[in-house]
Amino acid sequence: MLEAVALTKDFGTHRALDALDLRVEAGEIVCLLGANGAGKTTTINLFLGFLEPSAGEARVDGVDVRSDPVGSKRKLLYVPEQIALFGELTGLENLIYFAALSGICDRSPANLRRCLAQAGLADAAMDRRAAGYSKGMRQKVGIALAIAKQARALLLDEPTSGLDPQASAEFHSLVVRQRDAGAAVLMVTHDLFRAREVGTRIGLMREGRLRRMIDAADITASELESLYLEEMGR
Ligand SMILES: Nc1ncnc2c1ncn2[C@@H]1O[C@H](COP(=O)(O)OP(=O)(O)OP(=O)(O)O)[C@@H](O)[C@H]1O
Ligand SMILES: [Mg+2]
Repeated sequence: MLEAVALTKDFGTHRALDALDLRVEAGEIVCLLGANGAGKTTTINLFLGFLEPSAGEARVDGVDVRSDPVGSKRKLLYVPEQIALFGELTGLENLIYFAALSGICDRSPANLRRCLAQAGLADAAMDRRAAGYSKGMRQKVGIALAIAKQARALLLDEPTSGLDPQASAEFHSLVVRQRDAGAAVLMVTHDLFRAREVGTRIGLMREGRLRRMIDAADITASELESLYLEEMGR
């Protein structure tokens, strides 16, 4: 579903991403871990078409993002670290607005309420202004959009950083549910524990290169930590 083929990005003379080869199939969660500046966000931005590759291709559903930027975005849902909502609108009104931007056909309040409920937002919260939402509540509106859009691939860039452990656990179980519904998920995180728990495979990145790809089932949390420290320390 998501495929990077020798994907490379230079900023001036600095190579932020160096010949990344990566596939994320439907029904899979691939987690990317790595030190600050490793090229993780750059990878996500290339899939979103926010950046042009210097070489190689980012493909969504087999199609180069550059050749069909609109069509590929329709299949994707992006959740950044901070979801920006309009504070003066309610959660439901925000979702109606973003659903319109995303070209979602069924924008009836009943359908979008159902999506918000599936994302775990309490009924009472849907009609409150988003200015008063916690970070976890804002992230749930993002997931509700993924549900409404029936996004086939999720691109998550540190979606739970700063969430309390309960909100983080809830968010990850929502992501697992989307995976079980057939979504391909690429998640950037610094949370080794969650990466091992929800990831199918875990990629370790450093200085623009994917150093290692690990099957999450083959490794314990403490083994992952040791491997991570070893790769980052080299
Ligand atoms: N727009 C840009 N212009 C110039 N350099 C950039 C730009 N975006 C990223 N870089 C550089 O590319 C490298 C990779 O950045 P990137 O944001 O992908 O890292 P990251 O792995 O997401 O790190 P973090 O964990 O801190 O979010 C860094 O050296 C960064 O300074
Ligand atoms: Mg980043």
